[in-house]
Amino acid sequence: MNEKKINIAQPSFLGNEKKYVLDALESGWISSIGKYIESFEKAFADYHGVKYAIATHNGTIALHLALAAAGIKNGDEVIVPDLTFIATSNSVRYCNAIPVLVDVEQDDWNISPDEMIKNVTTKTRAVIPVHLYGNPVRLKEITEIAHTRKLIVIEDCAEALGAKYSGMKTGTFGDIGCFSFFGNKIITTGEGGMCITNNDELAERMRILRDHGMNRTKKYWYDHLGFNYRMTNMQAAVGLAQMEQLNDLLARRDHIYQTYQNCFSNSPGIVLQSTHGQRSVNWIFTIRMKGLTLTQRDAVMDAMKKRQIDTRPVFYPIHEMPFYQHSDFIRGTYPNSSVISREGISLPTYIGLQDEEIHYIADSLLASIQQCTL
Ligand SMILES: Cc1ncc(COP(=O)(O)O)c(C=O)c1O
Repeated sequence: MNEKKINIAQPSFLGNEKKYVLDALESGWISSIGKYIESFEKAFADYHGVKYAIATHNGTIALHLALAAAGIKNGDEVIVPDLTFIATSNSVRYCNAIPVLVDVEQDDWNISPDEMIKNVTTKTRAVIPVHLYGNPVRLKEITEIAHTRKLIVIEDCAEALGAKYSGMKTGTFGDIGCFSFFGNKIITTGEGGMCITNNDELAERMRILRDHGMNRTKKYWYDHLGFNYRMTNMQAAVGLAQMEQLNDLLARRDHIYQTYQNCFSNSPGIVLQSTHGQRSVNWIFTIRMKGLTLTQRDAVMDAMKKRQIDTRPVFYPIHEMPFYQHSDFIRGTYPNSSVISREGISLPTYIGLQDEEIHYIADSLLASIQQCTL
């Protein structure tokens, strides 16, 4: 039995985080003006090879800001996957627009291009592909469908910083890419988010809307209804230090992935997300336990808890949420998101996780499955 509880996620601050935060505090620039905001935005834009990066207070509002800047409004339809974190579809509803839920692929767990096509109507304005658990969406198909139908593409990269599709970083395929820096993400700023784009107009609109809609040259004059979605200089100080370590952080996550994968290589009942040979980033190592019922999956999670291991269920399908039970949102069936959600479990994944802990987690999982499926 493991003495120490193993958390599902844990941030690590191994670089200049403390130094930069202290510097920000001592400079007196603690709100949303300060050198770290510019430096963090520049480092992020440079990493992605894009013209603009616009920092926000969290990833949810990064999505809302992107949709608002793209002009998504009352009555517009936006296609979103049924299997995602709730913020993806909620951000559409914040615009009074209609999130149209579509099923995901059985193998990669991401939005299905075929299901997307079926749900395009004359009201469809945008699509939000989500790179679930850091695994890139089939962007070629999705962007082709979007371009033919003149749809805006907003990539939800909250879980996928550093992932690549066809050698290009995720977030750079769509019109806007949105990221999250919550405490469990690839890099963290406590709470935080970012929008990236190469589009001059969208970037300008996002900067204006982020700052209450204030005119960029006339102070306290508001041409638009905007928001306060700004990031603080202290958050950005942490973010810049984290960006400096990004390659190492990703390499460590790759190692964790490979170690888990080896542990489960002789267990045919454990199914991983298919990456289609793309560069996935192992945000949280998540698997399906084939054939388990929801009760059995929950029992496995309880058994893991008794062994001091923190786990998470895969996201519940959005169409099951009480406030999404409406024919405006639910237009199809969702066999894939339902089965992945029912059988899915996320295991501890963070930089400080040791190999022997991964072996202990994997052994405990296999023993728990056996115990709960007798
Ligand atoms: C897919 C996805 N989208 C959006 C978000 C929202 O980000 P935040 O928690 O920073 O608001 C998250 C965060 O967990 C996420 O996983």
